[in-house]
Amino acid sequence: MDRPLPSHVVAQPESLYVGGSAYLIATQNADGTANLSPASSYWALGSTIVLGLEVAGKTVQNLLERPELTINFPSGDLVDAVLRLDGTTGRYPVPEGKERYRYEADKFALAGLQPQASELVPVPRVAECRLQFEARTVRATPGHTGEWFMVEAEVLRVHADPRILKPGTGLPDPRRWSPLVYEFRHFFTTGEERGHLPKSQTA
Ligand SMILES: Cc1cc2nc3c(=O)[nH]c(=O)nc-3n(C[C@H](O)[C@H](O)[C@H](O)COP(=O)(O)O)c2cc1C
Repeated sequence: MDRPLPSHVVAQPESLYVGGSAYLIATQNADGTANLSPASSYWALGSTIVLGLEVAGKTVQNLLERPELTINFPSGDLVDAVLRLDGTTGRYPVPEGKERYRYEADKFALAGLQPQASELVPVPRVAECRLQFEARTVRATPGHTGEWFMVEAEVLRVHADPRILKPGTGLPDPRRWSPLVYEFRHFFTTGEERGHLPKSQTA
């Protein structure tokens, strides 16, 4: 190919978030109330989703004790709700390593988001999110630095607003919905389609 190649210099990004979906993860506190936290580190294969979660956070503490969770994917219109949750933790007192955080007991209220009862887990979904997963943790493995856990969860049920589905199917249609993408501490939505796999059922 005659495509001109880029030149490269050594870069120092603030984070290695090259660009992936932001999500809102809800977990259950010991008193039965819900915690809600923004996150973005994950990968998924089959019905397994693997989340990268900080050791010092309330979310992973909850998951080690009560394995159920919901993973809720905001679209671009919910960026303000995600930003309102930034810098907050459900842990009281605020633990070491989270000095820039403040404690918030009701993060749904802080974000201006509504809890919606789930069908299979005792943890609410985020009603405003058009794509929601109910899931259960099957394993949490400490990362090699001791700062985070790899949390493997089994997705039990996927909920979608019918407006983001290919009509007459249960297939989320990427032409009808875009996730909120977190890229090097900035937020975007996805742009124009550039292609698709031949096997896509929504093409
Ligand atoms: C856009 C965004 C992405 C984030 N991604 C992650 C992440 O992938 N993993 C993580 O542990 N924390 C992530 N954080 C920070 C958490 O929100 C933070 O750890 C917070 O303490 C979680 O709340 P909790 O202590 O109540 O669980 C992210 C924050 C924002 C705003």
